[in-house]
Amino acid sequence: MTSDPFNSTAPMIAASILSADFSRLGSEISEVLTHGCDFLHLDIMDGHFVPNISFGPHVTEGARSATGGKVYLDAHLMVSDPLKYAPPLVKAGASSITFHVEAVDDPIAAAREIRKLGCHVGVTLRPMTSVETLFPILEYVDIALVMSVRPGFSGQKFIPEMLEKVRQLKNRVSARQRIEIDGGINHDTAAAARRAGVDWFVVASAIFDAKDRPAAIASIRGQLAGG
Ligand code: DX5
Ligand code: ZN
Repeated sequence: MTSDPFNSTAPMIAASILSADFSRLGSEISEVLTHGCDFLHLDIMDGHFVPNISFGPHVTEGARSATGGKVYLDAHLMVSDPLKYAPPLVKAGASSITFHVEAVDDPIAAAREIRKLGCHVGVTLRPMTSVETLFPILEYVDIALVMSVRPGFSGQKFIPEMLEKVRQLKNRVSARQRIEIDGGINHDTAAAARRAGVDWFVVASAIFDAKDRPAAIASIRGQLAGG
């Protein structure tokens, strides 16, 4: 059975494999999960919606098999046509599909279509997109993901103004929903994000680029507990 982070309201760390060493992805994944990350965040990029290409269903399937199908796979689609890629990603093992509100004409219809695939549904927005854009869609999703860097690359600097979006969303979501933040989360930014109301923390470079990954994960975890 796949772990389900919705079963708990505790803060969760989602390791984004974008900064992992893909020549040994299986052991990279095992290491961060063994040392305290709760689940995996998969950044799907098409080189069109964002100026970078990452990976798709094939690597998603690899992540599933590396975890024996036991770990929640949170897919963040930075693609121009999320409805085209959602079905093969779910088939490959994605547990949730988060799409960009900017990528679709009818976000409510998109959320409904994705839900039919039997996965959790998330919606997200670029830093320049106003948070109000998400309000009418919230009741149709499980996850509201706030991007705290420009989508496309790991290793960017956290944009603190995005915490106001978190605070506004926090007032509007119910207990069954989760607020996730993505971009620039590390030892210095995690506590403020937690205080603003974030449930799930996506982290790539602060873990994978750290010399001592177990210590980096523990240090972020410590910030979440104290925040
Ligand atoms: C950026 C991706 C992020 C990225 C985060 O477009 O959505 O998930 O991997 O990387 P860090 O944690 O290094 O900011
Ligand atoms: Zn992401």
